[in-house]
Amino acid sequence: MSAAHGRLAEVHAVALVGLAPHRVRIECSRASGLPGLRLVGLPDAAVREAEDRIRTAIQRSGLRWPQERVVVNLAPADLPKVGTGFDLALALAVLGATEQVPVGALGGTWACGEVGLDGSIRPVPGTLPVALGARDLRAERLIVASAAAGEAALVQGLEVIGVQDLAEVVAVLRGVRRPAEVIPAPTAVEASTLELADVRGQPVARRAVELAATGSHHLLLAGPPGCGKTMLARRLHALLPPLELPQALEVAAIHSLAGERPPDAPLSLVPPLREPHHSVSAAGLIGGGSGVPRPGELALAHRGVLLLDELLETPRWVLDALRQPLERGEVAITRARARVCYPSRVLMVAATNPCPCGHLGDPRRACTCRPDRIERYRSRLSGPLLDRLDLQVEVQAVDLERLAGSSDGETTATVAERVVRARSCAAHRWGRGVANAHATSAQVRATASTACLRALSRAIDSLGLSARAFDRTLRVARTIADLQGASGVETGHIEEAIAYRLPTPSVVG
Ligand SMILES: Nc1ncnc2c1ncn2[C@@H]1O[C@H](COP(=O)(O)OP(=O)(O)OP(=O)(O)O)[C@@H](O)[C@H]1O
Ligand SMILES: [Mg+2]
Ligand SMILES: [Zn+2]
Repeated sequence: MSAAHGRLAEVHAVALVGLAPHRVRIECSRASGLPGLRLVGLPDAAVREAEDRIRTAIQRSGLRWPQERVVVNLAPADLPKVGTGFDLALALAVLGATEQVPVGALGGTWACGEVGLDGSIRPVPGTLPVALGARDLRAERLIVASAAAGEAALVQGLEVIGVQDLAEVVAVLRGVRRPAEVIPAPTAVEASTLELADVRGQPVARRAVELAATGSHHLLLAGPPGCGKTMLARRLHALLPPLELPQALEVAAIHSLAGERPPDAPLSLVPPLREPHHSVSAAGLIGGGSGVPRPGELALAHRGVLLLDELLETPRWVLDALRQPLERGEVAITRARARVCYPSRVLMVAATNPCPCGHLGDPRRACTCRPDRIERYRSRLSGPLLDRLDLQVEVQAVDLERLAGSSDGETTATVAERVVRARSCAAHRWGRGVANAHATSAQVRATASTACLRALSRAIDSLGLSARAFDRTLRVARTIADLQGASGVETGHIEEAIAYRLPTPSVVG
């Protein structure tokens, strides 16, 4: 680059592939040739449109649009650069190359924000994962829209500058104005208003809900309409302990990326609860969309609860898309342009009627379904998915007298306390934040006696269950032992655990 062409200005930005951050170097220099801007480095349509926005914004901000030829290179070229979040970095690179901001001031500077035609800087979805990524890629400071600064400042170890418009960022970089103070978004734990004591009767289902919350075991509640399935499923979420800060940030990053989190919202420590409608598409569940695939319900429920109500109303092929993500704790989406992975360690709670009319096995009302319809209905739940539902409970309707009576069960607070205590046993054994459902086979097997394992083998065999069910049942037994404060898994724990797998006629057929 000859001196006549001025200096090379360099600004950095983050390109996200899923949640994975990649460094994008945006270099700008003047060049010989016809006046105009040339963008290289495979920008998508949005980045090309950025040129028009930036030109107008720069001119309207009392700054100078280059009258000479200017080349902007986005590197590496093979990385997809999607969205309007690169605007600010592009504008700064142009302003640096034309010596309107000192090139030296741009060193170590990363930027993320959309530039409006009037020069305003607007937040973009995904500012939080961009900030996390910038920190991990060793950025010194990150300039974002002031509306998103509180969100970005949740990330420790990164200087965050929030700016309203181009004029302000130029003044800050020239050193004639101090950056506005950035206050990190506060954290919040909104207490759930769902009370377990509101559920009358249902001791078995309540126990299963407690086990699910303690060990993160997937739960299936089957029973007639109005027996309290949805009520119980939602209360399971209320039993979960708050997230620790790094996990809460990870969850918020996914929600930010999906555009489901206002940038000025407090950082919630409450695990997410997602309740997709039963008509949800596979893409809605798994993630998708044009360009880089967006997170779906599975990723949005990461570290929380995915509640699938009316499970058998969802087509089987949609349900089958859940199998791999449930097993791996992450969901992979492959598109022509990118393969992305999102974490999806969810606790799945499913509720269903046992048959289309809902009254199969109901002592109070006769089922009116034809046998072939029942058959077709149940076949929507494939064996492999059923295998993953570790706790299967048949819920009966509670009689009206009992419903009208006073509360007869423990409160959310009482049960949540037990859940926390038992979870800490698991965490002590397996590592921080690891629930029994996430321990390896070798780990759980090591805490059970040979006699126990043999008893479990026999039971699995006689019930005709799969090998997968062996370790999954053992993990449930481990949770039962933890709630009892037992150090080893005993045959009594195995017996209770296997009871949740009994192929009850109304659930499995
Ligand atoms: N065990 C129960 N204790 C207290 N209230 C109950 C119980 N079962 C049902 N109810 C009452 O009935 C209403 C319906 O319960 P819920 O929606 O949980 O039923 P459901 O099993 O999900 O039914 P559906 O199959 O129709 O979805 C609740 O809002 C509650 O008022
Ligand atoms: Mg319901
Ligand atoms: Zn029926």
